Amino acid sequence: MMNRWRVAAVFYNSAIHWNLIMTAQTPKKGETWSGRFSEPVSQLVKRYTASVTFDNRLAIFDIEGSLAHAEMLQTQGIISAQDLTDIQRGMAQIRSEITSGQFEWSIDLEDVHMNIESRLTAIVGDAGKRLHTGRSRNDQVATDVRLYLRAAIDDITGLLKALRGALLDLAEKHADTILPGFTHLQVAQPVTFGHHLLAYVEMFGRDMERMTDCRKRVNRLPLGAAALAGTTFPIDRQRVAKALGFDDVCHNSLDAVSDRDFAIEFCAASALVMTHISRLSEELIIWMSPRVGFIDIADRFCTGSSIMPQKKNPDVPELARGKTGRVNGHLVSLLTLMKGQPLAYNKDNQEDKEPLFDTVDTLTDTLRIFADLATGITVKPEAMRAAALQGYATATDLADYLVRKGLPFRNAHEAVAQAVRACAEKGCDLTDLSLEEMRRFSTLIEQDVYSVLTLEGSVAARNHVGGTAPAQVRAAITRARQQNDTK
Ligand code: ARG
Repeated sequence: MMNRWRVAAVFYNSAIHWNLIMTAQTPKKGETWSGRFSEPVSQLVKRYTASVTFDNRLAIFDIEGSLAHAEMLQTQGIISAQDLTDIQRGMAQIRSEITSGQFEWSIDLEDVHMNIESRLTAIVGDAGKRLHTGRSRNDQVATDVRLYLRAAIDDITGLLKALRGALLDLAEKHADTILPGFTHLQVAQPVTFGHHLLAYVEMFGRDMERMTDCRKRVNRLPLGAAALAGTTFPIDRQRVAKALGFDDVCHNSLDAVSDRDFAIEFCAASALVMTHISRLSEELIIWMSPRVGFIDIADRFCTGSSIMPQKKNPDVPELARGKTGRVNGHLVSLLTLMKGQPLAYNKDNQEDKEPLFDTVDTLTDTLRIFADLATGITVKPEAMRAAALQGYATATDLADYLVRKGLPFRNAHEAVAQAVRACAEKGCDLTDLSLEEMRRFSTLIEQDVYSVLTLEGSVAARNHVGGTAPAQVRAAITRARQQNDTK
Protein backbone atom coordinates (compact mmCIF):
# COMPACT_ATOMS: atom_id res chain seq x y z
CA MET A 1 0.00 0.00 0.00
CA MET A 2 1.23 3.51 -0.86
CA ASN A 3 1.96 5.59 2.15
CA ARG A 4 0.13 8.83 2.59
CA TRP A 5 3.01 11.11 1.59
CA ARG A 6 3.57 9.32 -1.70
CA VAL A 7 -0.13 9.52 -2.45
CA ALA A 8 -0.12 13.19 -1.53
CA ALA A 9 2.91 13.89 -3.70
CA VAL A 10 1.45 12.18 -6.77
CA PHE A 11 -1.97 13.80 -6.51
CA TYR A 12 -0.96 17.04 -4.87
CA ASN A 13 -2.65 19.24 -7.44
CA SER A 14 -5.73 17.19 -7.86
CA ALA A 15 -8.58 18.43 -5.72
CA ILE A 16 -10.49 15.25 -6.34
CA HIS A 17 -7.76 12.96 -5.14
CA TRP A 18 -6.90 15.23 -2.28
CA ASN A 19 -10.48 14.90 -1.16
CA LEU A 20 -10.16 11.16 -1.35
CA ILE A 21 -7.13 11.32 0.85
CA MET A 22 -8.93 13.56 3.30
CA THR A 23 -11.76 11.06 3.49
CA ALA A 24 -9.34 8.30 4.22
CA GLN A 25 -7.82 10.50 6.89
CA THR A 26 -11.00 11.02 8.84
CA PRO A 27 -10.13 9.78 12.34
CA LYS A 28 -11.49 6.37 13.07
CA LYS A 29 -13.42 5.98 16.25
CA GLY A 30 -11.06 6.08 19.17
CA GLU A 31 -7.93 6.84 17.17
CA THR A 32 -7.46 10.49 17.97
CA TRP A 33 -4.40 10.92 15.78
CA SER A 34 -5.40 8.56 13.00
CA GLY A 35 -6.09 11.29 10.44
CA ARG A 36 -2.36 11.49 9.86
CA PHE A 37 -2.04 7.82 8.94
CA SER A 38 -2.89 5.75 5.91
CA GLU A 39 -2.84 2.33 7.53
CA PRO A 40 -3.73 1.08 10.95
CA VAL A 41 -1.07 -0.26 13.28
CA SER A 42 -0.81 -4.02 13.57
CA GLN A 43 -2.31 -5.75 16.57
CA LEU A 44 1.16 -6.42 17.88
CA VAL A 45 2.20 -2.78 17.61
CA LYS A 46 -1.05 -1.74 19.23
CA ARG A 47 -0.37 -4.01 22.16
CA TYR A 48 3.26 -2.92 22.28
CA THR A 49 2.51 0.79 22.38
CA ALA A 50 -0.61 0.73 24.56
CA SER A 51 -0.32 1.55 28.23
CA VAL A 52 -3.94 1.34 29.32
CA THR A 53 -3.46 -2.08 30.90
CA PHE A 54 -1.30 -0.46 33.57
CA ASP A 55 -1.86 3.31 33.43
CA ASN A 56 -5.59 2.96 34.12
CA ARG A 57 -4.65 3.21 37.76
CA LEU A 58 -4.10 6.92 37.07
CA ALA A 59 -7.77 7.30 36.09
CA ILE A 60 -8.98 9.12 39.17
CA PHE A 61 -6.09 11.57 38.98
CA ASP A 62 -6.66 12.03 35.26
CA ILE A 63 -10.26 13.01 35.95
CA GLU A 64 -9.23 15.37 38.74
CA GLY A 65 -6.71 17.05 36.44
CA SER A 66 -9.21 17.31 33.60
CA LEU A 67 -11.85 18.89 35.83
CA ALA A 68 -9.41 21.53 37.06
CA HIS A 69 -8.30 22.20 33.48
CA ALA A 70 -11.91 22.48 32.24
CA GLU A 71 -12.88 24.80 35.06
CA MET A 72 -9.95 27.06 34.18
CA LEU A 73 -10.81 26.98 30.44
CA GLN A 74 -14.29 28.14 31.28
CA THR A 75 -13.15 30.89 33.66
CA GLN A 76 -10.81 32.16 30.96
CA GLY A 77 -13.64 32.17 28.42
CA ILE A 78 -12.03 29.43 26.32
CA ILE A 79 -14.98 27.06 26.65
CA SER A 80 -18.60 27.87 27.55
CA ALA A 81 -20.33 27.41 30.89
CA GLN A 82 -22.51 24.75 29.22
CA ASP A 83 -19.41 22.86 28.05
CA LEU A 84 -18.05 22.87 31.60
CA THR A 85 -21.34 21.59 33.03
CA ASP A 86 -21.40 18.82 30.42
CA ILE A 87 -17.80 17.86 31.15
CA GLN A 88 -18.48 17.77 34.90
CA ARG A 89 -21.56 15.62 34.40
CA GLY A 90 -19.76 13.24 32.06
CA MET A 91 -16.77 12.92 34.38
CA ALA A 92 -19.01 12.20 37.37
CA GLN A 93 -20.56 9.34 35.42
CA ILE A 94 -17.16 8.05 34.26
CA ARG A 95 -15.84 8.19 37.80
CA SER A 96 -18.67 6.03 39.06
CA GLU A 97 -18.29 3.64 36.12
CA ILE A 98 -14.63 3.23 36.98
CA THR A 99 -15.06 2.82 40.73
CA SER A 100 -17.86 0.30 40.26
CA GLY A 101 -15.76 -1.64 37.77
CA GLN A 102 -18.16 -1.08 34.88
CA PHE A 103 -15.89 1.06 32.76
CA GLU A 104 -14.77 -0.72 29.62
CA TRP A 105 -11.10 -0.10 28.99
CA SER A 106 -10.08 -0.52 25.39
CA ILE A 107 -6.60 -1.22 24.16
CA ASP A 108 -7.62 0.39 20.85
CA LEU A 109 -7.72 3.68 22.75
CA GLU A 110 -4.09 3.24 23.80
CA ASP A 111 -3.97 4.82 27.22
CA VAL A 112 -5.98 6.01 30.19
CA HIS A 113 -6.25 9.55 28.81
CA MET A 114 -7.78 8.60 25.48
CA ASN A 115 -10.06 6.01 27.05
CA ILE A 116 -11.55 8.61 29.35
CA GLU A 117 -11.74 11.34 26.74
CA SER A 118 -13.45 9.03 24.28
CA ARG A 119 -16.00 7.92 26.86
CA LEU A 120 -16.60 11.55 27.83
CA THR A 121 -17.32 12.44 24.22
CA ALA A 122 -19.65 9.46 23.93
CA ILE A 123 -21.59 10.71 26.95
CA VAL A 124 -21.63 14.50 26.42
CA GLY A 125 -20.75 15.06 22.76
CA ASP A 126 -18.77 18.11 21.59
CA ALA A 127 -17.96 19.41 25.06
CA GLY A 128 -15.88 16.23 25.48
CA LYS A 129 -13.95 17.11 22.35
CA ARG A 130 -13.25 20.62 23.65
CA LEU A 131 -11.65 19.39 26.87
CA HIS A 132 -8.28 18.86 25.24
CA THR A 133 -8.04 22.53 24.21
CA GLY A 134 -4.74 24.03 25.37
CA ARG A 135 -3.24 20.81 26.65
CA SER A 136 -1.56 17.67 25.39
CA ARG A 137 -1.26 14.17 26.70
CA ASN A 138 2.34 15.07 27.44
CA ASP A 139 1.54 17.59 30.15
CA GLN A 140 -1.56 15.60 31.10
CA VAL A 141 0.34 12.40 31.90
CA ALA A 142 3.07 14.27 33.77
CA THR A 143 0.35 15.88 35.89
CA ASP A 144 -1.40 12.56 36.55
CA VAL A 145 1.81 10.86 37.64
CA ARG A 146 2.63 13.72 40.00
CA LEU A 147 -0.85 13.65 41.55
CA TYR A 148 -0.61 9.88 41.96
CA LEU A 149 2.85 10.03 43.46
CA ARG A 150 1.96 12.82 45.86
CA ALA A 151 -0.85 10.69 47.28
CA ALA A 152 1.46 7.68 47.47
CA ILE A 153 4.12 9.69 49.31
CA ASP A 154 1.55 10.85 51.84
CA ASP A 155 0.53 7.24 52.48
CA ILE A 156 4.12 6.09 52.75
CA THR A 157 5.05 8.88 55.15
CA GLY A 158 2.13 7.85 57.36
CA LEU A 159 3.24 4.21 57.26
CA LEU A 160 6.82 5.13 58.16
CA LYS A 161 5.43 7.04 61.10
CA ALA A 162 3.41 4.01 62.20
CA LEU A 163 6.43 1.73 61.89
CA ARG A 164 8.53 4.13 63.93
CA GLY A 165 5.78 4.31 66.54
CA ALA A 166 5.71 0.51 66.86
CA LEU A 167 9.50 0.32 67.13
CA LEU A 168 9.47 3.05 69.78
CA ASP A 169 6.94 1.11 71.85
CA LEU A 170 9.11 -2.00 71.67
CA ALA A 171 12.24 0.01 72.49
CA GLU A 172 10.55 1.47 75.54
CA LYS A 173 9.74 -2.00 76.86
CA HIS A 174 13.36 -2.99 76.39
CA ALA A 175 15.26 0.10 77.45
CA ASP A 176 17.08 -2.07 80.04
CA THR A 177 17.26 -5.38 78.16
CA ILE A 178 20.86 -6.21 77.32
CA LEU A 179 22.15 -8.12 74.31
CA PRO A 180 25.56 -8.28 72.69
CA GLY A 181 26.27 -5.55 70.17
CA PHE A 182 28.21 -6.82 67.18
CA THR A 183 30.83 -5.55 64.79
CA HIS A 184 31.89 -7.91 61.99
CA LEU A 185 29.14 -10.14 63.43
CA GLN A 186 31.52 -10.81 66.34
CA VAL A 187 30.48 -9.93 69.89
CA ALA A 188 31.73 -6.39 70.49
CA GLN A 189 30.16 -4.60 73.48
CA PRO A 190 26.91 -4.98 75.37
CA VAL A 191 24.08 -2.74 74.23
CA THR A 192 20.50 -2.31 75.28
CA PHE A 193 17.88 -3.75 72.95
CA GLY A 194 16.00 -0.45 73.11
CA HIS A 195 19.11 1.30 71.84
CA HIS A 196 19.48 -1.21 69.03
CA LEU A 197 15.89 -0.62 67.91
CA LEU A 198 16.37 3.13 68.09
CA ALA A 199 19.02 2.82 65.38
CA TYR A 200 16.21 1.80 63.01
CA VAL A 201 13.97 4.56 64.34
CA GLU A 202 16.71 6.98 63.22
CA MET A 203 16.98 5.37 59.78
CA PHE A 204 13.24 5.44 59.19
CA GLY A 205 13.17 9.03 60.49
CA ARG A 206 15.63 10.07 57.78
CA ASP A 207 13.53 8.13 55.29
CA MET A 208 10.53 10.20 56.30
CA GLU A 209 12.52 13.38 55.80
CA ARG A 210 13.60 12.22 52.35
CA MET A 211 9.99 11.50 51.39
CA THR A 212 8.83 14.88 52.67
CA ASP A 213 11.62 16.60 50.79
CA CYS A 214 10.93 14.70 47.58
CA ARG A 215 7.25 15.64 47.84
CA LYS A 216 8.17 19.32 47.43
CA ARG A 217 9.60 18.66 43.99
CA VAL A 218 6.79 16.29 43.02
CA ASN A 219 4.22 18.92 43.91
CA ARG A 220 4.59 21.22 40.88
CA LEU A 221 2.10 21.47 38.04
CA PRO A 222 3.20 20.51 34.49
CA LEU A 223 -0.21 21.28 32.92
CA GLY A 224 -0.01 24.27 30.60
CA ALA A 225 3.23 23.06 29.05
CA ALA A 226 0.97 21.36 26.47
CA ALA A 227 2.97 19.23 24.03
CA LEU A 228 6.28 20.96 24.78
CA ALA A 229 6.19 24.69 24.03
CA GLY A 230 3.13 25.95 25.89
CA THR A 231 -0.18 26.91 24.31
CA THR A 232 -1.63 29.78 22.30
CA PHE A 233 -4.69 29.96 24.58
CA PRO A 234 -4.86 32.48 27.46
CA ILE A 235 -4.61 29.84 30.20
CA ASP A 236 -4.24 30.47 33.94
CA ARG A 237 -1.76 27.91 35.22
CA GLN A 238 -1.69 29.22 38.78
CA ARG A 239 -5.42 28.70 39.04
CA VAL A 240 -5.10 25.05 37.99
CA ALA A 241 -2.15 24.56 40.36
CA LYS A 242 -4.19 25.91 43.24
CA ALA A 243 -7.22 23.79 42.39
CA LEU A 244 -5.09 20.65 42.36
CA GLY A 245 -3.14 21.51 45.51
CA PHE A 246 0.21 22.04 43.77
CA ASP A 247 2.65 24.43 45.44
CA ASP A 248 3.71 25.97 42.15
CA VAL A 249 3.79 25.41 38.41
CA CYS A 250 6.73 23.90 36.51
CA HIS A 251 8.60 26.90 35.15
CA ASN A 252 9.79 25.52 31.84
CA SER A 253 7.45 23.77 29.46
CA LEU A 254 10.11 21.52 27.90
CA ASP A 255 11.30 20.39 31.31
CA ALA A 256 7.73 19.95 32.56
CA VAL A 257 6.77 17.36 29.96
CA SER A 258 10.04 15.50 29.75
CA ASP A 259 11.89 15.06 33.00
CA ARG A 260 10.95 12.36 35.45
CA ASP A 261 13.58 13.19 38.05
CA PHE A 262 10.88 13.51 40.70
CA ALA A 263 9.96 9.85 40.17
CA ILE A 264 13.60 8.80 40.16
CA GLU A 265 14.15 10.69 43.39
CA PHE A 266 11.17 8.92 44.91
CA CYS A 267 12.55 5.55 43.81
CA ALA A 268 15.94 6.42 45.32
CA ALA A 269 14.28 7.33 48.63
CA SER A 270 12.24 4.10 48.39
CA ALA A 271 15.34 2.02 47.71
CA LEU A 272 16.81 3.41 50.92
CA VAL A 273 13.66 2.60 52.89
CA MET A 274 13.79 -0.95 51.56
CA THR A 275 17.50 -1.16 52.33
CA HIS A 276 16.75 -0.26 55.93
CA ILE A 277 13.87 -2.75 56.02
CA SER A 278 16.20 -5.35 54.54
CA ARG A 279 18.84 -4.79 57.21
CA LEU A 280 16.22 -5.07 59.93
CA SER A 281 14.91 -8.22 58.26
CA GLU A 282 18.35 -9.76 58.23
CA GLU A 283 18.63 -9.17 61.96
CA LEU A 284 15.17 -10.55 62.67
CA ILE A 285 16.06 -13.68 60.71
CA ILE A 286 19.32 -14.14 62.63
CA TRP A 287 17.69 -13.37 65.99
CA MET A 288 14.90 -15.85 65.31
CA SER A 289 17.22 -18.66 64.26
CA PRO A 290 17.07 -21.34 66.99
CA ARG A 291 20.88 -21.11 67.20
CA VAL A 292 20.49 -17.53 68.43
CA GLY A 293 16.97 -17.50 69.84
CA PHE A 294 16.79 -13.81 70.82
CA ILE A 295 13.25 -13.31 69.56
CA ASP A 296 10.21 -15.03 68.24
CA ILE A 297 8.00 -13.61 65.52
CA ALA A 298 4.22 -14.01 65.73
CA ASP A 299 2.90 -16.95 63.73
CA ARG A 300 0.94 -14.71 61.37
CA PHE A 301 4.21 -13.57 59.77
CA CYS A 302 5.74 -17.03 59.41
CA THR A 303 5.06 -20.17 57.45
CA GLY A 304 5.84 -23.82 57.93
CA SER A 305 7.59 -26.28 55.70
CA SER A 306 5.71 -28.75 53.53
CA ILE A 307 8.14 -31.52 54.49
CA MET A 308 9.73 -30.59 57.85
CA PRO A 309 7.00 -30.46 60.51
CA GLN A 310 9.19 -28.72 63.08
CA LYS A 311 9.87 -25.62 60.97
CA LYS A 312 8.67 -22.07 61.49
CA ASN A 313 10.25 -19.85 58.90
CA PRO A 314 10.51 -16.04 59.00
CA ASP A 315 9.05 -15.69 55.51
CA VAL A 316 7.98 -12.05 55.78
CA PRO A 317 11.44 -10.68 56.64
CA GLU A 318 13.01 -12.94 54.03
CA LEU A 319 10.62 -11.75 51.34
CA ALA A 320 11.15 -8.13 52.32
CA ARG A 321 14.90 -8.65 52.01
CA GLY A 322 14.29 -10.19 48.59
CA LYS A 323 11.91 -7.45 47.43
CA THR A 324 14.56 -4.85 48.15
CA GLY A 325 16.26 -6.15 45.02
CA ARG A 326 13.33 -5.33 42.80
CA VAL A 327 12.96 -1.81 44.22
CA ASN A 328 16.67 -1.18 43.64
CA GLY A 329 16.11 -2.50 40.12
CA HIS A 330 13.27 -0.03 39.51
CA LEU A 331 15.56 2.85 40.47
CA VAL A 332 18.13 1.69 37.94
CA SER A 333 15.37 1.22 35.31
CA LEU A 334 14.22 4.80 35.66
CA LEU A 335 17.71 6.25 35.67
CA THR A 336 18.48 4.30 32.52
CA LEU A 337 15.15 5.28 30.96
CA MET A 338 15.98 8.95 31.37
CA LYS A 339 19.65 9.13 30.55
CA GLY A 340 19.47 9.03 26.75
CA GLN A 341 16.45 11.21 26.15
CA PRO A 342 16.78 14.49 24.29
CA LEU A 343 14.23 17.19 25.12
CA ALA A 344 11.31 17.12 25.25
CA TYR A 345 8.73 14.30 25.63
CA ASN A 346 9.62 10.89 24.19
CA LYS A 347 7.51 7.78 24.31
CA ASP A 348 10.26 6.19 26.42
CA ASN A 349 8.61 7.97 29.33
CA GLN A 350 5.60 5.70 29.13
CA GLU A 351 7.94 3.11 30.62
CA ASP A 352 8.20 5.12 33.84
CA LYS A 353 4.91 3.79 35.15
CA GLU A 354 5.36 0.11 35.87
CA PRO A 355 8.59 0.54 37.85
CA LEU A 356 7.08 3.46 39.73
CA PHE A 357 3.80 1.68 40.50
CA ASP A 358 5.57 -1.46 41.60
CA THR A 359 7.87 0.57 43.85
CA VAL A 360 4.85 2.20 45.49
CA ASP A 361 3.06 -1.14 45.88
CA THR A 362 6.08 -2.96 47.27
CA LEU A 363 6.94 -0.19 49.68
CA THR A 364 3.37 0.34 50.85
CA ASP A 365 2.73 -3.36 51.50
CA THR A 366 6.09 -3.88 53.15
CA LEU A 367 5.71 -0.93 55.50
CA ARG A 368 2.16 -1.87 56.39
CA ILE A 369 3.26 -5.40 57.27
CA PHE A 370 6.31 -4.29 59.22
CA ALA A 371 4.36 -1.81 61.35
CA ASP A 372 2.26 -4.77 62.43
CA LEU A 373 5.17 -7.20 62.63
CA ALA A 374 6.96 -4.90 65.08
CA THR A 375 4.06 -5.42 67.47
CA GLY A 376 4.33 -9.21 67.03
CA ILE A 377 7.91 -9.65 68.24
CA THR A 378 8.47 -11.60 71.45
CA VAL A 379 11.80 -10.77 73.05
CA LYS A 380 13.76 -13.38 75.03
CA PRO A 381 15.90 -11.33 77.43
CA GLU A 382 17.56 -14.37 79.05
CA ALA A 383 18.92 -15.59 75.72
CA MET A 384 20.17 -12.11 74.91
CA ARG A 385 21.83 -11.82 78.28
CA ALA A 386 23.46 -15.26 78.04
CA ALA A 387 24.93 -14.28 74.67
CA ALA A 388 26.19 -10.96 76.01
CA LEU A 389 28.00 -12.80 78.80
CA GLN A 390 30.02 -14.69 76.21
CA GLY A 391 32.74 -13.25 74.02
CA TYR A 392 34.37 -10.81 76.47
CA ALA A 393 31.89 -8.08 75.67
CA THR A 394 33.14 -5.91 78.53
CA ALA A 395 36.84 -6.03 77.58
CA THR A 396 36.72 -2.41 76.42
CA ASP A 397 35.26 -1.44 79.80
CA LEU A 398 38.30 -2.99 81.49
CA ALA A 399 40.63 -1.04 79.20
CA ASP A 400 38.73 2.20 79.92
CA TYR A 401 38.99 1.37 83.67
CA LEU A 402 42.79 1.13 83.39
CA VAL A 403 42.90 4.43 81.49
CA ARG A 404 40.97 6.08 84.31
CA LYS A 405 43.63 4.69 86.67
CA GLY A 406 46.31 6.48 84.64
CA LEU A 407 47.46 3.93 82.05
CA PRO A 408 47.79 5.20 78.46
CA PHE A 409 45.00 3.67 76.30
CA ARG A 410 47.35 1.66 74.04
CA ASN A 411 48.98 0.00 77.10
CA ALA A 412 45.60 -0.67 78.64
CA HIS A 413 44.45 -2.26 75.36
CA GLU A 414 47.46 -4.57 75.39
CA ALA A 415 47.03 -5.53 79.08
CA VAL A 416 43.38 -6.46 78.48
CA ALA A 417 44.28 -8.37 75.30
CA GLN A 418 46.64 -10.50 77.42
CA ALA A 419 43.93 -11.05 80.02
CA VAL A 420 41.39 -12.09 77.34
CA ARG A 421 43.92 -14.48 75.87
CA ALA A 422 44.51 -16.07 79.25
CA CYS A 423 40.75 -16.42 79.78
CA ALA A 424 40.31 -17.98 76.33
CA GLU A 425 42.99 -20.54 77.15
CA LYS A 426 41.36 -21.26 80.49
CA GLY A 427 37.88 -21.28 79.00
CA CYS A 428 36.49 -18.69 81.41
CA ASP A 429 35.15 -15.13 81.41
CA LEU A 430 37.02 -12.02 82.63
CA THR A 431 34.78 -11.88 85.69
CA ASP A 432 35.81 -15.45 86.59
CA LEU A 433 39.39 -14.32 87.22
CA SER A 434 40.32 -13.65 90.83
CA LEU A 435 41.68 -10.22 91.73
CA GLU A 436 45.11 -11.79 92.14
CA GLU A 437 44.96 -13.33 88.65
CA MET A 438 43.82 -10.04 87.17
CA ARG A 439 46.60 -8.08 88.81
CA ARG A 440 49.07 -10.19 86.83
CA PHE A 441 48.02 -8.09 83.81
CA SER A 442 48.07 -4.77 85.63
CA THR A 443 48.68 -3.86 89.21
CA LEU A 444 46.34 -0.91 88.76
CA ILE A 445 43.42 -3.34 88.98
CA GLU A 446 41.56 -3.30 92.29
CA GLN A 447 38.41 -4.75 93.80
CA ASP A 448 36.18 -2.11 92.15
CA VAL A 449 36.93 -3.67 88.77
CA TYR A 450 34.10 -6.20 89.08
CA SER A 451 31.30 -3.65 88.88
CA VAL A 452 32.89 -2.30 85.71
CA LEU A 453 32.82 -5.75 84.17
CA THR A 454 29.09 -6.33 84.65
CA LEU A 455 26.77 -5.91 81.69
CA GLU A 456 24.66 -3.36 83.56
CA GLY A 457 27.74 -1.36 84.55
CA SER A 458 28.96 -1.42 80.98
CA VAL A 459 25.78 -0.06 79.37
CA ALA A 460 25.03 2.41 82.18
CA ALA A 461 28.50 3.94 81.77
CA ARG A 462 27.78 5.00 78.18
CA ASN A 463 25.59 7.79 79.40
CA HIS A 464 25.72 10.57 76.82
CA VAL A 465 23.52 11.59 73.90
CA GLY A 466 23.56 8.74 71.41
CA GLY A 467 24.92 6.25 73.98
CA THR A 468 23.37 2.92 74.96
CA ALA A 469 22.65 3.68 78.66
CA PRO A 470 19.00 2.97 79.57
CA ALA A 471 18.58 6.58 80.71
CA GLN A 472 19.70 7.77 77.28
CA VAL A 473 17.41 5.30 75.55
CA ARG A 474 14.44 6.68 77.46
CA ALA A 475 15.41 10.27 76.62
CA ALA A 476 15.87 9.35 72.96
CA ILE A 477 12.44 7.71 72.87
CA THR A 478 10.83 10.88 74.21
CA ARG A 479 12.62 12.98 71.58
CA ALA A 480 11.73 10.59 68.76
CA ARG A 481 8.07 10.51 69.81
CA GLN A 482 7.93 14.32 69.71
CA GLN A 483 9.54 14.32 66.24
CA ASN A 484 7.22 11.60 65.01
CA ASP A 485 4.22 13.68 66.04
CA THR A 486 5.42 16.80 64.26
CA LYS A 487 6.81 15.16 61.09
N1 ARG B 1 0.66 7.08 27.49
C1 ARG B 1 1.60 8.13 27.34
C2 ARG B 1 2.65 8.10 28.45
O1 ARG B 1 2.47 7.41 29.37
C3 ARG B 1 0.89 9.46 27.37
C4 ARG B 1 1.59 10.54 26.64
C5 ARG B 1 1.60 10.22 25.19
N2 ARG B 1 2.05 11.31 24.41
C6 ARG B 1 2.40 11.14 23.14
N3 ARG B 1 2.78 12.17 22.53
N4 ARG B 1 2.44 9.96 22.59
O2 ARG B 1 3.65 8.73 28.40
